[in-house]
Amino acid sequence: MTTVHTIATQPIAGQKPGTSGLRKKTPVFMGPHYLENFVQSIFDVVGAAGKTFVLGGDGRYFNDRAAQVILRMAAANGAHRVIIGQGAILSTPAASHLIRLNKTDGGIIMSASHNPGGPKEDFGVKFNMSNGGPAPEGVTEAMYKRTTEITSYKIIESHDVDLSKIGRSQLGDMIVDVVDPVSDYAALMESLFDFPAIAAMFKSGFRMRMDSMCAVTGPYAVEILENRLGAAAGTVVNGTPLPDFGGMHPDPNPTWAKALMDEMFGQNAPDFGAASDGDGDRNMVVGAGAYVSPSDSLAVLAANAHLAPGYRAGLKGVARSMPTSAAADRVADALGIGKYETPTGWKFFGNLLDAGRATLCGEESFGTGSDHVREKDGLWAILLWLNILAVRKQSVAAILAEHWAKFGRNYYSRHDFEAIASEKADAMIAALRAGLSALPGRQVEGLTISAADDFAYTDPVDGSVSNNQGVRILFADGSRIVMRLSGTGTEGATLRLYLERYAAGPEGLDLDPQEALAPVIRAAHQLAAIEGFTGRVTPDVIT
Ligand code: G1P
Ligand code: ZN
Repeated sequence: MTTVHTIATQPIAGQKPGTSGLRKKTPVFMGPHYLENFVQSIFDVVGAAGKTFVLGGDGRYFNDRAAQVILRMAAANGAHRVIIGQGAILSTPAASHLIRLNKTDGGIIMSASHNPGGPKEDFGVKFNMSNGGPAPEGVTEAMYKRTTEITSYKIIESHDVDLSKIGRSQLGDMIVDVVDPVSDYAALMESLFDFPAIAAMFKSGFRMRMDSMCAVTGPYAVEILENRLGAAAGTVVNGTPLPDFGGMHPDPNPTWAKALMDEMFGQNAPDFGAASDGDGDRNMVVGAGAYVSPSDSLAVLAANAHLAPGYRAGLKGVARSMPTSAAADRVADALGIGKYETPTGWKFFGNLLDAGRATLCGEESFGTGSDHVREKDGLWAILLWLNILAVRKQSVAAILAEHWAKFGRNYYSRHDFEAIASEKADAMIAALRAGLSALPGRQVEGLTISAADDFAYTDPVDGSVSNNQGVRILFADGSRIVMRLSGTGTEGATLRLYLERYAAGPEGLDLDPQEALAPVIRAAHQLAAIEGFTGRVTPDVIT
């Protein structure tokens, strides 16, 4: 007989989960009752009695300890069964797949995504629903509300569950199934893509570098790329997940994956390079001397997805987040399929995927995915690119050039200004919002403003409305400025400035994006008075 302890606790202020669950500094999560309060709030909202959950995380510092606490709390709250990745490891897309594959009641993912990990860095916990996707706002709000009222949590006393061995065990009255984190996911990938064609390409000498950034995709990438597809040993670098990600900032973009960029733009570059983030849902792809912006990646994948067996029947629709460039829209129009523009955050794609309206989804923030799971999926995107390369037998640069020649090019860049004092950032956005209605018709930097608004979204499936999702300033020539504050930062405010300009071609398709966007960048600084409000002129990260 296992004794369930009910431990008195107090609500802890500030436990507001953002768009991707609750993220805090690791010491905060390790503080007294903090993790426990949030986990109990999850169970109080979704109910645990008799239910089956998936559990896993990206292996960052505290992942292993947190898993043991969550298991003991699940048992205390009456859960029937928990399916957990060996070593408490699961990439976010693999967790989403396991939730769906096993028809469970949801899952808990321990990750702060691309944020650095370690004793002084970030930790996070999020809940995914039975469809495999992130909990919708109503549910996360209810969890937050619960953390402000909670007075006790339930936990059993027990030895640690041995998570190093695959197999079934019992924790109190609850079944614990420790599963291989990779095999089901790898089988899913094999069902979607033409593995023989990709293997033949590797066999013919195609070279790739996959940078797993010492984060969760290492074992997945080694198994899929090297073991199953026959890529040369050593194709996967930084392939061992480490609690502090080896000190790397596991965010796959040109700034943080600089070593990969240097290699891909250096002499004797491999044919294809890719990187993924802490929990494996983000991706960056780059050819020899050819960087692929995430917005362009979504468009190219949409235009070529039918070359992969899993998408041979064509796409139902393509969805992108509002700040993502309109490149994918042009493909959707050409294919005669639906196109959707959603607020930032993967959860907004869930209804479109569940309702069968969209097949591919993407965000400018290095997130791409499809209806195979309900999260963005880094390795999936990399494999779809490989499948396309194997069929088209062209370089990444050639595929991009042909794409732009056909559809025109949406020059695109995002400038991030990080760790701004929140009140300064809020004041800037407030002033911008207040002045929006006066903007149309104004000329700035030789561009004419045609419209300006604060993006609002009505979900076409359930009719729910999300307001204030980002300020948009549209210009007569199709250029666009978007500004919003990050919902995932853990230090002050991060201003995201998104810049876009369309070039129809055939001339002017191969400019440097920052040069092509220069007038739009100047206009943004002028219109928002970024320096006046924040003192910042130069962005911290440019993607
Ligand atoms: C960022 C990205 C957004 C993504 C989210 C979770 O959110 O911009 O596209 O969905 O991370 O990976 P933000 O910090 O901008 O709120
Ligand atoms: Zn992530």
